[in-house]
Amino acid sequence: PLVSMKEMLEKGKKNGYAVGQFNINNLEYIQAILQAAEEEKSPVILGVSEGAGKYMGGFNVVVAMVKSLMESYGTTVPVAIHLDHGSSFQKCAEAIHAGFTSVMIDASHSPIEENVAITKQVVELAHIHGVSVEAEVGTVGGEEDGVIGGIQYADKDECKQLVSEAGVDCLAPALGSVHGPYEGEPNLGFTEMEEILNLVQVPLVLHGGTGIPTKDIQKAISLGTAKINVNTENQMAQAEAVRNVLNAKPELYDPRKYLGPGTEAIKETVKGKMREFGSSQQA
Ligand code: G3H
Ligand code: ZN
Repeated sequence: PLVSMKEMLEKGKKNGYAVGQFNINNLEYIQAILQAAEEEKSPVILGVSEGAGKYMGGFNVVVAMVKSLMESYGTTVPVAIHLDHGSSFQKCAEAIHAGFTSVMIDASHSPIEENVAITKQVVELAHIHGVSVEAEVGTVGGEEDGVIGGIQYADKDECKQLVSEAGVDCLAPALGSVHGPYEGEPNLGFTEMEEILNLVQVPLVLHGGTGIPTKDIQKAISLGTAKINVNTENQMAQAEAVRNVLNAKPELYDPRKYLGPGTEAIKETVKGKMREFGSSQQA
């Protein structure tokens, strides 16, 4: 069923696993991720950035594709459709009205007072609709949808203020993670993560899941991280598979023959993450 993230993340936090958010870019991503989740018996979050939503034809199209595929697959595991890095109250409202079951409002670039005010506004609307809300403090490094940020660690008092005043369901404190591949090993702030967990109590979210070593994933989960976002790794797996087929068979032109292997590659990558995050067999 299509559900918000609230229950799945609270269960994950309580039982020591994290639910993956896998970003979708087109129909094939939705197919691959829903199939992976069902085969792994894992809850799953479909992440939709504003750019990817636009690329797919708008939030309504996204919801229609997801609902329709879930129906034809007979999906039994919990699935959330989540706006990733929502940039404004308006965008979050648009997603909620289109049928998203979860939204992230990312006002982390604004001063904390403003971040709290916008986030609170989103929470008020979202909770009326049974939609869960994620917010961010600090800056994730790297690039996403054209927005480039240097790493800036989340301030723990700001995290506490945001959660208590805005009433979010989960919090993404930026603690050294990066969107896209890491240059060298990531340097995650686990001491800060523990401090923040003790101050906020809600499940924590780790952005920039691509390229984080398993030991760091496990450590983050042990410190209350119940949602891990992965995007780039699926894109790289898909692109490599498609490139290999097209290079090996330059005469191919049927999209089913070259996109199919890309979809399989996404599915295998997602299944691997579900096992690594411990969400397999938890649905
Ligand atoms: O919000 C999405 C992510 O944080 C994905 O990061 O592309 O590095 O896996 P990634
Ligand atoms: Zn992110």
